Parts: sequence; C-alpha cells; structure tokens
Amino acid sequence: MSLPQKTTSKVPRLQRALVATGPGSLALKTVAVPRITSEEVLVRTAAVALNPSDHKLLDQSTTAGAISGSDFAGVVVHVGSSVKDRMSVGDRVFGIVFGANPGRPGNGAFAQYVAAPADLCMHVPDGMDMATAASMGMGLMTTGLALRSLGLRWDRLAEENDDSDDERHSPYVLVHGGATATGTIAIQILRQAGYLPVATCSPTNFDLVTDRGAVAGFDYNSASCANDIRRYTKGRLRYALDCIGNEATMILCYCALGDGASYYTTLEQYSRRLTIRRRDVTPDWILGWTLLGDEVQLAGAYYREARPDDRQFGRDWAVLMESLLEQARVRPHPIEATAQGTFMAVIPRLDLLRKKMVKGKKIVVKV
Ligand SMILES: NC(=O)c1ccc[n+]([C@@H]2O[C@H](COP(=O)([O-])OP(=O)(O)OC[C@H]3O[C@@H](n4cnc5c(N)ncnc54)[C@H](OP(=O)(O)O)[C@@H]3O)[C@@H](O)[C@H]2O)c1
Repeated sequence: MSLPQKTTSKVPRLQRALVATGPGSLALKTVAVPRITSEEVLVRTAAVALNPSDHKLLDQSTTAGAISGSDFAGVVVHVGSSVKDRMSVGDRVFGIVFGANPGRPGNGAFAQYVAAPADLCMHVPDGMDMATAASMGMGLMTTGLALRSLGLRWDRLAEENDDSDDERHSPYVLVHGGATATGTIAIQILRQAGYLPVATCSPTNFDLVTDRGAVAGFDYNSASCANDIRRYTKGRLRYALDCIGNEATMILCYCALGDGASYYTTLEQYSRRLTIRRRDVTPDWILGWTLLGDEVQLAGAYYREARPDDRQFGRDWAVLMESLLEQARVRPHPIEATAQGTFMAVIPRLDLLRKKMVKGKKIVVKV
C-alpha cells in the first residue's frame, strides 16, 4: 500500500532574512515567509552561495526592503498544487531565484525560506552535500543560456556515455574568464557537448581550467593573449563566451575570433560602440533572470520583457543538468564554505566579492 505523499510540513509565518536597507547595505531582519504559487516549492535553505550580482544589485539597483541572494540549496517543505508530480516534501533541491527583485522583493535566497519555481529546481544528487549544491545553480543555468545564445548544440549531453569521438574537427569555443564560477562549469559542459574549450585565466588557474576540460589556457594579462589564441586555434575560433564583460575583455575576444561569421556572448552589458570593429561578429548579452519567464523589472539596459520561451528552455535545461549531475559528469567550482550558521556571514564575504578579492572559488555560507 502506498501512503499519500506529504505536500506540506509545518512552516512558520515569519523568518530571518538579509534585506537591503539602502545602497550597498544589508541587515538581518524578521520578515514574512514568502507565499508560493501553484508552480513553486517552498525550500528551507541549508546553504547559500554568493554571486557578483548580489552586490551589483544591492549597490547599483537597490530595492530597499528586498531580500537578497540567488543561489540556494535546501529541503522542500511545501509543494505547489500543480508541481506535485515533480517535487515532494523532504526533497533535497538547489537552484536559483531572482534575489533583490524589485518585482518580488519578499523572496530571495539569503533567507530561511525561499519560494522557488519547481521546474527550475534540481534535485541534489546522492552523495553531494548542500554546500556544494548551493554553489552550482547559477553556473549551470547561465551556461545553458550561453550555449543557446551562441547557437551551439547540446544534444550530445543527453548521451549517457560520452566517449568523445575524434575531436580533431570539433569547433573551438573561447571561455574568457575560464576560472570564474561560471567559466569552470561552462568549460565542462562545452567539452561534453562536443566542443574544444580554450580558456583565459591567470597562470595560477591553468591547472584548474585544464582539469575541467579546457584544451588550453591563456593568460589574459599577457599582451599577446588574443594573438596566442588566434594562433593556437589557427584562425578557426568562431565562438567566444565572455564571463567577465567589460571593454577590455570584449576587445580581447573580438581579436581572438577568426575572420568570418562569429558569435560573442557576454554576461554583462557590452559596448555597442565596439561592435563596429567587427561587423562579422554577432554579439549578445544574456541575463539569467529571463529564465524565470517573467518581466525583469530592472532599470535601463537591464530591463527585459517577459520571455516564456526562456522559461521553457530553463525547464528542459534543468532536467538535463539534473541528469548530468546524477551521472557525476559535472564537477563544482572550488568552494569555500563557512561553518557559521548565520546569514550575517554573507555580509563580509559579499564585500570581498565586491572588492574582487575572491578568485578561483565560490563562497558558500551554511545556514
Ligand atoms: N548575465 C548573467 O546572467 C550572469 C550570470 C552569472 C554571472 N554573471 C556575471 O559574470 C561575471 C562573472 O561571475 P562569476 O560568479 O562567474 O565570477 P567569479 O567566480 O566571481 O570570478 C572570479 C574570477 O574572475 C576572473 N577574472 C577577473 N578579471 C578577469 C579578466 N579581466 N579576464 C579573465 N578573467 C578575469 C579571475 O580569474 P583568475 O583568478 O584566473 O585571474 C577570478 O578568479 C560577473 O560580472 C557576474 O555578475 C552574469
């Protein structure tokens, strides 16, 4: 006899969360536990990871009173009525939410409870701890959008046994900022999707990027970096993923790309002025929040209309990533996890991220 599935467990009305109190400033407050929609699950957070977007949103686009944080892992405590086939109370899950969202300020990862879209959540594989899982959501989901934006294929990822055939004719993909949290995940996925990732990073991270699957590492601080990449790829580089996204990195990517139709995708707003240097390069800038399918109510260039197609893509991609993780085919970025059980530990660590003092690792706070 099978017992009816439990769809809720006792949830308090109030919780502790890190909320914005003004530009650049967070404080631990008592706030309402978010209400879930029929398509969401309520997750009691066990660990959260820090992202540069956490301080960028806080510093440059402050929504006073909004809960901050995007990357989380935890245990499902309540399941929305239309997603009971996908999630159950007690499931260990991880994923991303749009923290500091002006459109939904009462929901963010730096809180005891987070309302997350069930279809974009992934189950934590057996044997993986919550701190590691918390570090992976943003990297996995951003990589998906990046592959799609570059027009790359990912059908090979669905093959369980990836016995990378003859790679001699596989296309190169530049991952600029290969030692970023996004970069080390993107490198692994690109390689398994049948591409040859070449990465830029500091020489101290050459081992990290090659260990994750890059066929070569190049020092972005070297004056000859773009030329070195062009020579290595014999002018055949057609795709560049810029995980940093400023004028200097865009120029480097544009110079490394071979002549002819090429594709450049960046994670930050790019300079329109620079695009005239190479009219044969198609530039694109992705914003992970579009995966939620809703309007992104940020100001200026960061505004996006609702994109239901992105949500559908995210749904399919999350299923694919869940299966890659189950097969242990994606390794996490190196993490530094605190033992502290408080969200207050986020604040000084976010400041390190803001000052660009976090290199080659992702900061995780266990809560
Ligand atoms: N649009 C989106 O949806 C989206 C999603 C995720 C992230 N992002 C953005 O993407 C950027 C990266 O985020 P992340 O969390 O992946 O990064 P991260 O892990 O915080 O990146 C740290 C690493 O950046 C590398 N780096 C710094 N300057 C560099 C440069 N000029 N060239 C190459 N590498 C450089 C350093 O590598 P070395 O140690 O090797 O020097 C450092 O280890 C941030 O701006 C973030 O806001 C956007």
